[in-house]
Amino acid sequence: MKTPTYAAQHAASLHDPEAFWAGLAGQLHWFQEPPRPVLSQDPDTGLDRWFRGGKLNTSWLCLDYHVANGRADQVSLVYDSPVTGQVRRYTYRELLDLTSRFAGGLRQLGVRQGDRVILYMPNLPEAVITMLACARLGAVHSVVFGGFAPHELAARINDAEPYVLVCASAGLEFDKVIPYKPLVDAAIALARHQPAHVVVLQRDFCRAEMNVTTSKDSQLASEDNRKLPRDVDFQHLLQAAPVEAVPLDATDPLYILYTSGTTGKPKGVVRDNGGHAVALKYSMAAIFGVQPGDTFWAASDIGWAVGHSYSVYGPLLHGCTSVLFEGKPVRTPDAGTFWRVIQDHQVRVLFTAPTAIRAIKKEDPTGQLAQQYNVSSLQHLFVAGERCDPATYAWAGTTLGVPVVDHWWQTESGWPMLATLVGLPAMPAPRAGSAGHPVPGYDVQILDEAGQPVPIGTTGLVAVRLPLPPGCLPTLWQDEARFCSAYLDTFPGYYLSGDGGYQDAGGYFYIMGRVDDVINVAGHRLSTGELEELLAAHPAVAECAVLGIACELRGQVPVGLVVLKDGQNPEETQLEQELVQLIRTQIGALACFRQAAVVARLPKTRSGKILRKTLRQLADGEPFTIPSTIDDPLILDEIRQVLARRAIGQAFDTPPASR
Ligand code: COA
Ligand code: AMP
Repeated sequence: MKTPTYAAQHAASLHDPEAFWAGLAGQLHWFQEPPRPVLSQDPDTGLDRWFRGGKLNTSWLCLDYHVANGRADQVSLVYDSPVTGQVRRYTYRELLDLTSRFAGGLRQLGVRQGDRVILYMPNLPEAVITMLACARLGAVHSVVFGGFAPHELAARINDAEPYVLVCASAGLEFDKVIPYKPLVDAAIALARHQPAHVVVLQRDFCRAEMNVTTSKDSQLASEDNRKLPRDVDFQHLLQAAPVEAVPLDATDPLYILYTSGTTGKPKGVVRDNGGHAVALKYSMAAIFGVQPGDTFWAASDIGWAVGHSYSVYGPLLHGCTSVLFEGKPVRTPDAGTFWRVIQDHQVRVLFTAPTAIRAIKKEDPTGQLAQQYNVSSLQHLFVAGERCDPATYAWAGTTLGVPVVDHWWQTESGWPMLATLVGLPAMPAPRAGSAGHPVPGYDVQILDEAGQPVPIGTTGLVAVRLPLPPGCLPTLWQDEARFCSAYLDTFPGYYLSGDGGYQDAGGYFYIMGRVDDVINVAGHRLSTGELEELLAAHPAVAECAVLGIACELRGQVPVGLVVLKDGQNPEETQLEQELVQLIRTQIGALACFRQAAVVARLPKTRSGKILRKTLRQLADGEPFTIPSTIDDPLILDEIRQVLARRAIGQAFDTPPASR
């Protein structure tokens, strides 16, 4: 049968979502087919749920299904680690064996369906095995990015209340060894909730010290288990007998993934099993244009949504070979490393962040290194995580000689909302600066402050008309109220993305950046509110504002403006160093918080709200209008002088403000 065109699929998905998604669900193997209607409301919360009553297991679909259907000897996962010099390949049969054994080991530790398991690991096959083993048991995994400091890990431990935490002894950042286990121990010491066990994957270059005391708070089932030490060796659990996949409800949670909101408390985005599997399977062919057997590489970290959806679940659900890369786009060992990986593993689609391309371009401006490798297997380069600026877009296309596709999504959606769906017939070609067209299932609208659609070409708030398609978050972990207030309550009938953008007359969408207090640093989301809470805790600081200012490499970087308490007169450089250190130890180096300046006052509205947007425009040298609500416009001139003196941003180029 001929594949319907993009326009036909998008129209069908909005006209009759249930029929559209029921048809796609039929492409997966269910232990029990979901009854119609496939979209219904949760009886307790009234929130939309897809495929209620259906039974399946995501790990089974990723592994057992392929082993039983002719892919047992195909490579499922290639681990390519320039930082350790290793390349390891796992067939579907091998990955199934390791996963089902590790699941057996977790079960021996006492992990049961519904228990949470936190992972704190770099991009390692053992991390993928742990995720799939949890999915096999119906345990809910929550991967915490290895760059987060103990304070952040502790916040996630307290929220998810994991029964077990699985970590690697260490990670490698270029040639710098980062011992992870002491960070885990510090986080557990900070946390209110205590996991019963820590499972440690020992890496040869940095072995962790094990805590062998038995866990006094252990909630383990049997006396035998209670005698186990708190820390258990990963390899020990791999010796267990394999276990079968547990049939799960489609609506059972597969994982929780924390992301920054506008407050200090991270949001626990919940992903279910059924909707997630259906949506990701569809996306592999329709959006990325790959077939089972193709090699797909998402050069992300498993700590982010991209790593979850497109290093692990999407490619495996679709029977692809997934590349798991432990390294950086540059200096591991050079800016040709991505092109070497494409060549060595015959990568068909590469998915990365524009910041990674900018890092490569900075070190190899003429793209010479790409000429040294045979990248002819590559069909498309997909980029997301931030807007792909037209210069980076053009450079990547010329260097690689393939179409570049910018596409838009969020941790919350779990898969793209806007894209050029290269697998669908009659799809309009990608265009520089645009994230493309709405993916089937998404009715993307640009709204004004009153929730009304704006005319074509006008910038507004990017929203999605409900229902959200399968795969999107059904709720936040144990916080339905926050889910509703953060996303659904502002404009009834819509999901509010937090991004601003517009649509042009050709139907192309342009996502221009956040409209809230979230900033995007090298494709990572950070809350300025959280950074401000931490800076405000410094004894010399009375109040502060954190701005995301433009950065050529990372898109944005945070900068702090602090007002001192009366009577405080610290040396500015010393204070800046203390504040920088504070953020490094509390959030992590990934925040890239490297500059803070003392200012006499912060500009506020008469109701006391700090004018962050105006400050950012000032720092970035953008023209701006002085808000009529500001209490004293002279403050902006004072701040401009401080920024210019400290060479922060482009404030010195700012054109005079107009009123
Ligand atoms: N564990 C510990 N520390 C980490 C870490 C991790 N997993 N990841 C980053 N860090 C640290 C780095 O060592 C660095 O520390 P430093 O300040 O002491 O040097 C700091 O956090 C900043 O890291 P990063 O932003 O990665 O800077 P970089 O110079 O190491 O690399 C890029 C710059 C652009 C190459 C890198 O950010 C990159 O590859 N980005 C792609 C982002 C991406 O894939 N996003 C996912 C969305 S699709
Ligand atoms: P995260 O949840 O960490 O993946 O971050 C999601 C946010 O990244 C979005 O809300 C956007 O602000 C930004 N983003 C992701 N992809 C794009 C894109 N293609 N264009 C513009 N912004 C993007």
